[in-house]
Amino acid sequence: MSGRSPGSFFDGARSNPTFANCDAAAAAGTAIGADAVLAIGGGSALDTAKTAAVLLKHPGKRAVDFYEKGAPIKDAAPLVAINTVHGTGSECDSFAMAQSDGEGKPAIRSPHLYPAYTIEDPALTVTLPVKHTVFTSVDALCHAVEAATAVTASPYCISLAKEAVRLTSIWLPTAIAQPGNLAARYWLMYASAIAGISFDLGMLHVTHALEHSMSALNAAITHGEGLGILCRPSCGKSIRPRPRFWPACWPPSLRIWSGCPARPKPPWASSGIGWPPLANPPTWAPTLPGPTCRL
Ligand SMILES: [Fe+2]
Repeated sequence: MSGRSPGSFFDGARSNPTFANCDAAAAAGTAIGADAVLAIGGGSALDTAKTAAVLLKHPGKRAVDFYEKGAPIKDAAPLVAINTVHGTGSECDSFAMAQSDGEGKPAIRSPHLYPAYTIEDPALTVTLPVKHTVFTSVDALCHAVEAATAVTASPYCISLAKEAVRLTSIWLPTAIAQPGNLAARYWLMYASAIAGISFDLGMLHVTHALEHSMSALNAAITHGEGLGILCRPSCGKSIRPRPRFWPACWPPSLRIWSGCPARPKPPWASSGIGWPPLANPPTWAPTLPGPTCRL
């Protein structure tokens, strides 16, 4: 956070951030008179920063006032988001989430929660461990599937969702096999961004609702891991009745789900997470402007 003093660094946001994490981040900013917030990390860090940005503009309020007591969000400090995963969507949506352990994991939404700027640099994702590479892309997949199958889905958000599912199914196996492959990370990050835009327009529903209850009861379950456990039966039921989405997205979704934690180890896997070799591996890749790129 930057303010009248050089800045303040807060690293107290855990996975599945709590209201207390958000209050502590805001207090660190208030202590230096912060007038802007720089968030670096995945969804938990970004959502904590978004909440802190709101709290900085509402002296005397706490996170619980917005998440559980319906306090209106009238303003927020400018937020710059540097995303380090390819799944959250928080870097380009108007939502934030935090939880009270054992009780619930509500969301807040406001136009003030859009970051002023977002930096999407695939080079920041190459050190993600394999399981987090999978979990974060499963998060993006669920965003796309839920957005496209929501009753509020528009043709635009369905188009974005289809492309997000297609790209994720193509490039996730490559990122698993070659964590440093910048082309794979680039397209997964792009897929996540457009999935985030899609659900910002179309909303989420049953899979995320179930997962939020799961991680509120057991905070040790990361968001993507919980979605991985739930997504095949839950998203599958959502996709099947949707003729505009089903033909394009069922096969690639199946391919992604085959590596999720609740699935039995597939026969082709040599480790706990595995995908079948692509019948037609992609032979194209984006032209990256130097060692890093911006979306
Ligand atoms: Fe999510």
